[in-house]
Amino acid sequence: MQKIELNENQGRTPTGLACLDSILNGGLEHGVITEIFGEGGSGKTNICMQFAINNASLGKKVFYLDSEGFSIERFRQMSISRSDIYDNIALFRLNSLEDQELSLIKVQRLMEKVKSPGALIVDSFTEYFRLETGGDYQARVAGFQKQLGTILAMISEYHIPALVTNQIYQDIDKGQLQPFGGYVIDHSVKAIIRLEKKEGGLRKAIVEKHRSIEEGRSVVFAITAEGLECR
Ligand code: GTP
Ligand code: MG
Repeated sequence: MQKIELNENQGRTPTGLACLDSILNGGLEHGVITEIFGEGGSGKTNICMQFAINNASLGKKVFYLDSEGFSIERFRQMSISRSDIYDNIALFRLNSLEDQELSLIKVQRLMEKVKSPGALIVDSFTEYFRLETGGDYQARVAGFQKQLGTILAMISEYHIPALVTNQIYQDIDKGQLQPFGGYVIDHSVKAIIRLEKKEGGLRKAIVEKHRSIEEGRSVVFAITAEGLECR
């Protein structure tokens, strides 16, 4: 049990994309899992990298778990080769759903040892959940919920934000594009941002769910050679 003081400042960390931070009243909430979902190429990984770079530039340690194949080239473009911040980013490649579960536990232990933990990023959180279709579905769901519990435990202990990404699929019954995981992750994720591709290569970020911000707030941004630009 953790006692909460009502006058405490829950805190937010900026993503580094100013217009997104503005609609989120300053950035990603501490102790909360924020999910970004959207179709392939909508900018999820770009936002993760921007967030990691911004946080690392503030001298914080960022734990970045990647299941997609992290592009070092893109990271260098966005960080303008600021190699001085590289040591502030602990990057881990995930190889399976089981590896993801074990890695999160390892990261939880590592966080104890660092001076200023800044953020946890998992890109993509649902990739292996989506790909590993064999075996016992309920066991996978339980494993997934355990992972969410591990994330929530560490981010509330260190008062930091977690950013996870999620893909979408076409829900035949509803005729809509939905994020993966549905009820399995919905309850644990307190902030959800949807990304859409727009004309002229622009992207739109829309607040889909938040504890203290009205849904529907949105911003338009562009993905450029150096990173992300508000429009
Ligand atoms: P998935 O991981 O496939 O689901 O996609 P994502 O949502 O993570 O997309 P990501 O953030 O990787 O964005 C990919 C987009 O970034 C592509 O549409 C690229 O065109 C764009 N992009 C990457 N590098 C550059 C660049 O140097 N200049 C411009 N203009 N766009 C770029
Ligand atoms: Mg991606």
